[in-house]
Amino acid sequence: MAVRKVVKFGEDILRKKSKPVKHFDEDLWQLLDDMKETMYKNDGIGLAGIQVGVLRRVVVIDVNGLSAELINPKIIMSEGEEIEEEGCLSVGKFSGRVARPYKVTVEAQDRYGYPFTITGEKLLARCLCHEIDHLDGILFVDKSLDKDKFFKSVR
Ligand code: NI
Repeated sequence: MAVRKVVKFGEDILRKKSKPVKHFDEDLWQLLDDMKETMYKNDGIGLAGIQVGVLRRVVVIDVNGLSAELINPKIIMSEGEEIEEEGCLSVGKFSGRVARPYKVTVEAQDRYGYPFTITGEKLLARCLCHEIDHLDGILFVDKSLDKDKFFKSVR
């Protein structure tokens, strides 16, 4: 296992769309292990492959002790809305309010390719949505109610 470098805001790759994972092999497992180590090292609660420079639809999370690896994740149900502060390891110190679903169900595959679903509320739902956005090149600052403040600060 190894801690990988986290891609920061401003690097073009963060805006790219990640491709589906087709091979559930040792390269994937190594990536997942490294992503978890990188997430824990940086005190994060979620990390997407793109954040370590890998354009594959891969996410790891650890929210309140619930850890999961999600390959090719897709939101299949969402309900409600909640506005809370959010941050991102790729964005740095800035945090801002984002409206997210209160509850989501996500369909994904595990590291061996077996399908499963995960349902989460509040912070877990927020984390799942945030990470899945990364796979489509979307950052929380794009959706933040405080985005003017952020984009002014980086201009
Ligand atoms: Ni993020």
